[in-house]
Amino acid sequence: MTRPDLDLWNQRFAAEGYLFGEAPNRYLATRATALQPGHALCVADGEGRNGVWLAEHGWQVVSLDFSDVAQRKAADLAARRGVTLDLVQADVHDWDYPPQAFDLVADIFSQFSAPGDRARKWAGMARVLRPGGHLILQGYMPEQLRHGTGGPKDPTHLYTEDLLRGAFPGFDILHLEAAEAVLDEGPGHSGPSAVIGMVARRPA
Ligand SMILES: C[S@@+](CC[C@H](N)C(=O)[O-])C[C@H]1O[C@@H](n2cnc3c(N)ncnc32)[C@H](O)[C@@H]1O
Repeated sequence: MTRPDLDLWNQRFAAEGYLFGEAPNRYLATRATALQPGHALCVADGEGRNGVWLAEHGWQVVSLDFSDVAQRKAADLAARRGVTLDLVQADVHDWDYPPQAFDLVADIFSQFSAPGDRARKWAGMARVLRPGGHLILQGYMPEQLRHGTGGPKDPTHLYTEDLLRGAFPGFDILHLEAAEAVLDEGPGHSGPSAVIGMVARRPA
């Protein structure tokens, strides 16, 4: 695959260390702890910090990302932690999301999608969840543009409460939290940040 956005991500991931750290995203770890482990899909899982944490907590994880450089680091992190990830290298907008195959979808900071692509990606994520399955999502809000501590600069890529409330029709929203938080997720996400998190469940 050769394309400018992939080349850019591969360059970022080629640097020494883990761009977003090796610890899981805090919102995901806090919210997933309450769930019974099963099959999890980590969308745009990058260097694998979230997929590896879920695997360490008993989940069978598919880690989906288009960056081969990130996935080599994800495999290395998994090996160091003594767990395995099923690494799938694909574009999240085009992947053939298998219907009702997962109990959990984790979508953490995948804000590279323009609105049309995002709708396709989120429809795929909704489709893969089994009835009763959970979605855990976190992203930056428009207020993040004031902080400049990570995330996209295009306001159409950022999430608002209204956007998330309407994004997964028919799902029950179990938790929705907009917060000013201090992130400490490697050099990529560091400092005061405006984030929003959501847990939603596909009805049983
Ligand atoms: C901000 S990083 C977040 C990584 C990971 N979710 C985390 O929280 O550490 C965004 C990720 O999206 C991936 N990505 C960007 N565009 C993509 C696409 N079209 N298809 C698949 N992955 C993509 C990048 O390679 C990168 O790993």
